[in-house]
Amino acid sequence: MRIAVIGAGRVGTALGVLFARAGHEIVAVAGREATTARAAAWLPGVPVRSPADAALVAEFALITVPDDAIVPVTDALAREGALSPGLWVAHTSGAVGLDALDAGRAAGARGLVIHPLQTLPDVERAVATIPGAAMAVTADDEEGASLGARLARDLGARPFPLADADRALYHAAAVFASNYVVATSAVAERLFAEAGVPDPVAAMAPLQVATLENIERLGPGAALTGPAVRGDAGTVGRNLEALAARAPGAVAAYVALCRVALDVAVAAGRLAPEGRAGVEEVLAAWS
Ligand SMILES: NC(=O)c1ccc[n+]([C@@H]2O[C@H](COP(=O)([O-])OP(=O)(O)OC[C@H]3O[C@@H](n4cnc5c(N)ncnc54)[C@H](OP(=O)(O)O)[C@@H]3O)[C@@H](O)[C@H]2O)c1
Repeated sequence: MRIAVIGAGRVGTALGVLFARAGHEIVAVAGREATTARAAAWLPGVPVRSPADAALVAEFALITVPDDAIVPVTDALAREGALSPGLWVAHTSGAVGLDALDAGRAAGARGLVIHPLQTLPDVERAVATIPGAAMAVTADDEEGASLGARLARDLGARPFPLADADRALYHAAAVFASNYVVATSAVAERLFAEAGVPDPVAAMAPLQVATLENIERLGPGAALTGPAVRGDAGTVGRNLEALAARAPGAVAAYVALCRVALDVAVAAGRLAPEGRAGVEEVLAAWS
């Protein structure tokens, strides 16, 4: 397909590279100042044009701008007459729905969302890790669903259909799966450092890698270890006393996550109600 990448940042540039490798033609990219250098490095020979000029020479306009810019950029493209019947217009946001493309759909273009379920901190990592990632496809109809699935497979990704109404919930799940793992890791790094552990990130890496492997192999319910699933109220109390003395800002997160861990343990049939009650009693003193 003739593909224009509007917003050739981390995701757009990587998708451009992977689509080109799969035999698609990247006819133009668009963006702001940094996009020109990025495109020259990763997509040499591809012209950098205005968003409207890029969309006008494409069959598939991929809008990979930040989430809040998708609607204004699509609206501007529609106003400039760049979105017309025969064109597919797509975005790659996990949280935003098909309705962000409404201006294009009203002009007769057809909407599609393809979301790589992957964390993509830079173009290089994105090119390496989109292949093999799951990819959510949300479309208006069967034709869009099958085009989205075919494009995802061209990227080496594993497509699955996602209903438009479920996108925000789906994205909240992705936030738990990735962003909050990073956030809790930052807390752990700080606490290890406070406890005098040298090179905390390196020290906790084998623990974290084994944890993720266990989750993949066994599922979260069976992978959970630690004081909550053991119903070990004494250890939970000792942890909280230490946090209150040395890192009081972490107490609320510990209490909230301990309750989540209790839920997981009970749902997995690994913690009896009495065990849970003992831990809950300790937590109540800190909430
Ligand atoms: N990064 C991830 O982990 C990830 C994962 C899955 C999905 N996504 C989705 O992919 C989309 C792009 O994210 P990203 O991480 O690739 O963002 P990004 O690296 O910040 O790239 C955004 C691109 O849009 C351009 N841009 C920014 N504001 C613009 C505007 N108002 N008008 C026109 N162009 C504009 C930027 O140009 P300049 O660089 O020239 O300023 C850049 O080319 C988002 O919808 C995001 O939710 C991201």
